[in-house]
Amino acid sequence: MSEIPLEAIGGWLKDEDSRLDRTFRRLGDIPTDTLNREYIAYFEDYRHRYFNDRLLPGQGVEEILQALRQHGGTPRRWIDLSAGVTTLFWSIGVNRPDAVCACDLVPEALHVLAAFKAGSELPQCYRDALAITGKSESEFNRTRSMHWDFHVMDCLKPWTSPTERSGYDLITAIGCFGLARGPKDYEEAFAAAAKQLAPGGRLIGVDWIRSQTFIEKEGHDNSYLSSALTARCAWRAALTLLEASPVAIADDPYYDSLIVWAYGRGE
Ligand SMILES: C[S@@+](CC[C@H](N)C(=O)[O-])C[C@H]1O[C@@H](n2cnc3c(N)ncnc32)[C@H](O)[C@@H]1O
Repeated sequence: MSEIPLEAIGGWLKDEDSRLDRTFRRLGDIPTDTLNREYIAYFEDYRHRYFNDRLLPGQGVEEILQALRQHGGTPRRWIDLSAGVTTLFWSIGVNRPDAVCACDLVPEALHVLAAFKAGSELPQCYRDALAITGKSESEFNRTRSMHWDFHVMDCLKPWTSPTERSGYDLITAIGCFGLARGPKDYEEAFAAAAKQLAPGGRLIGVDWIRSQTFIEKEGHDNSYLSSALTARCAWRAALTLLEASPVAIADDPYYDSLIVWAYGRGE
């Protein structure tokens, strides 16, 4: 059963026996009063805990924003897989997208994201990220005020999008594939995303390597993650390496490091 962790550390509801509804839905088609209040509170807590205060250096955020800027191009169509509540934050690294789609298995996560996007709150870490990337607030607001699609779907299984037939120029998977139970499921999720890339498109992802403490605390062991695994997936999907950077995380009891990677499809 999906349990709500007491502390919003992992940023997800672990769903080992797959109780959550995995059918594709648009967030706007789900009546708000049917959403789970406790799940909403969990994702609000996660957003406040990690994406509210000042930006902490040495946690990998600079490298992720840089990878998005350097390899993300100027996407006509951007889809963010396992978006959680954070797509607007990562949008700071993405150069002038024309269309944005945020996807997550849990509608409550997208509900929190959509409400935050619709508001005008600009937390300190957003201001810090704007300063780091040199992006202007008006440029940020351009992306914020655009219409976005919010899709409830399982991003670890083969997927298609009813709103996009010709593929995405940019697919981001930030903290997504590492939620897979093991390397086979990781490979399946990677292949599913790679299949949706338009010619010349970019797939950019981040895999967080958990500490032993966190593995034991939450019970999700993704120590199978490695640059070699991602490289194997990319090779199978005929994608070209743009970047694969391991980044050490200082002083975090739950995460030891992360891998920031970017791959591209040929024209
Ligand atoms: C670790 S958070 C990462 C969120 C965000 N990308 C970020 O950078 O903060 C993981 C997110 O994946 C979502 N999730 C978990 N399993 C999923 C699945 N099978 N398909 C899509 N999203 C999933 C969770 O609901 C959660 O919002």
